[in-house]
Amino acid sequence: MADTIAVELRKVVKQFDDVFAVDNVSLTIREGEFFSLLGPSGCGKTTTLRLIAGFELPTSGEIYIDGEPQGYLPAYRRPVNTVFQHYALFPHMNVFQNVAFGLEMQHFPREAIRRRVAEALELVHLTGLENRRPRQLSGGQQQRVALARALVNQPKVLLLDEPLGALDLKLRKAMQVELKNLQHQLGITFIYVTHDQEEALTMSDRIAVMQEGKILQIGQPQEIYETPRSLFVADFIGETNFIPGKVTKNGGGLMFTLPNGAHARAGWVQDGLTNGDRAFLAIRPEKVEILSPQNNQNGKTHTLLSAQIQQVIYGGTDTRYVVALEDNVSLVARQQNSTASEIRFSIGESVNVRWEAGLARILGN
Ligand SMILES: Nc1ncnc2c1ncn2[C@@H]1O[C@H](COP(=O)(O)OP(=O)(O)O)[C@@H](O)[C@H]1O
Ligand SMILES: [Mg+2]
Repeated sequence: MADTIAVELRKVVKQFDDVFAVDNVSLTIREGEFFSLLGPSGCGKTTTLRLIAGFELPTSGEIYIDGEPQGYLPAYRRPVNTVFQHYALFPHMNVFQNVAFGLEMQHFPREAIRRRVAEALELVHLTGLENRRPRQLSGGQQQRVALARALVNQPKVLLLDEPLGALDLKLRKAMQVELKNLQHQLGITFIYVTHDQEEALTMSDRIAVMQEGKILQIGQPQEIYETPRSLFVADFIGETNFIPGKVTKNGGGLMFTLPNGAHARAGWVQDGLTNGDRAFLAIRPEKVEILSPQNNQNGKTHTLLSAQIQQVIYGGTDTRYVVALEDNVSLVARQQNSTASEIRFSIGESVNVRWEAGLARILGN
């Protein structure tokens, strides 16, 4: 991947009355990158995208595209195109006319329009449907028309605001793969907005996790998932067990004290947390092993606790066990079902749970 910067935001703020929709956001997006803005509804994803597109102007800060400050440049002068969740096709125009519209407005020659529309429709697999009206298309096909309408302008950067949000799950999954292939094939920079963490994890080169207008963490999917730097990120991405307790200084090293007084080591402690602070030990369900009680090896590298099986939830590829620790703390442990008869523990059984100490993270807020 080229290391040229396609889009840069420097200390961008967007205030609507008393709401900071975007609150001091700085980030750089590389050329050809699939970059996602991920966060819950209302966290400022759409506003960030609209600022890049030029549909909104920042209250302060600057946006650079291809190294050029965008200032007050209107949307149609920026080398970006947007695909929205509600694709707003013209209902009275057919597929060809919908895709050609932008080029016609720019007075492209007829032959160039014909060629570019044909190319764009081929990219999204709609060749042959040129004469259909939007209402004669499925939701997935309509979204492809919207995509073709953006691609026909050959933008350097494509902005996509929850483009698959209106599609059902199966179609969404299929379109995720297609979009990713298309992006790879064309080498266009994609800035992709979604509130769906799984979608962001599977599609992105890098993800920015947003909350209340701020970026909490930027990283590759694996970094975001494996090494969340805050409670919010750990909670929002995937599933996490949070064991309440206290940060404890123990012989110079930082440790964690569980409610029953047991100590656990951790791989990382969030900045600003010190001895005695209330916090959570975060550990992913698939990192928690369940062992029979006589299997109590923990060595120096693992945390081992006694527990009791509370619930067994068979899920095909894996089984989820809810286990109770000594002090009313419940944990979820997820075990891959790699053989046919994989349910190994039953409700009420006493067990040990164990995880690699370094995989647990102490998170405050
Ligand atoms: N035009 C506007 N006027 C006033 N408030 C707005 C406007 N657009 C967005 N907001 C507010 O800014 C915040 C972020 O909104 P938005 O960017 O749409 O979030 P997201 O796309 O992550 O759901 C929300 O609190 C929203 O209500
Ligand atoms: Mg939005």
